[in-house]
Amino acid sequence: MRVHVADHPLITHKLTVLRDKNTSSPTFRSLTEELVTLLAYEATRDVRVEPVNVQTPVATAEGLAISDPRPLVVPILRAGLGMLEGMVKLIPTAEVGFLGMVRNEETLQPDIYAERLPDDLSNRQCFVLDPMLATGGSLIAAINYLFERGAVDVTAICLIASPEGLAAVERATDGRNVHIVLGALDDRLNEVGYIVPGLGDAGDRLYGTV
Ligand code: PRP
Ligand code: URA
Repeated sequence: MRVHVADHPLITHKLTVLRDKNTSSPTFRSLTEELVTLLAYEATRDVRVEPVNVQTPVATAEGLAISDPRPLVVPILRAGLGMLEGMVKLIPTAEVGFLGMVRNEETLQPDIYAERLPDDLSNRQCFVLDPMLATGGSLIAAINYLFERGAVDVTAICLIASPEGLAAVERATDGRNVHIVLGALDDRLNEVGYIVPGLGDAGDRLYGTV
């Protein structure tokens, strides 16, 4: 498993505002989008491309085009939905599939409650969007689901991860082509499975309490 933790002052600055408990939902939503676009730049470094030629007004130029099958972007509902616009801004031709997952707040086990994905993901590059990697349970379930459907490599973009969750994803995906791109790696998980210092409940901060 490859892990990239962003190291850029603008990303840290935007995350700092996002963490602030006084940041309003509208600001939280627009910052989330901006952060994802910045992280997606790194996450798509290995996106599959092929050589193409284009005619400029002057001559033929050699360039690159995104290969088929197109990348599949999979936001994990609910909070991952807040990351979708920021991602498709960078790859407008990507396809989008959806996985609805909720973590049982007592057992901390994830449950898949909705799914809308292509049946066959063979040979697909998948980009999973989920702002928080806490125990890792949700991301492990999502990655396993995509590999069961035939995906060959999965890149996850998360705004914040805990060291415990990251280690759990590494153990669970051993030997597979998994890449994790993070805005920050925080200190720890607390006794109720929240990332410390984190930013609280990402879904609630984006969309309000359910
Ligand atoms: C949050 C978050 C992740 C998950 C992370 O979702 O968006 O999906 O928790 O926790 P884990 O790493 O311990 O599995 P939540 O279950 O709160 O659902 P929501 O997005 O609908 O708020
Ligand atoms: N889910 C969140 O939204 N925040 C956390 O800190 C942990 C899980």
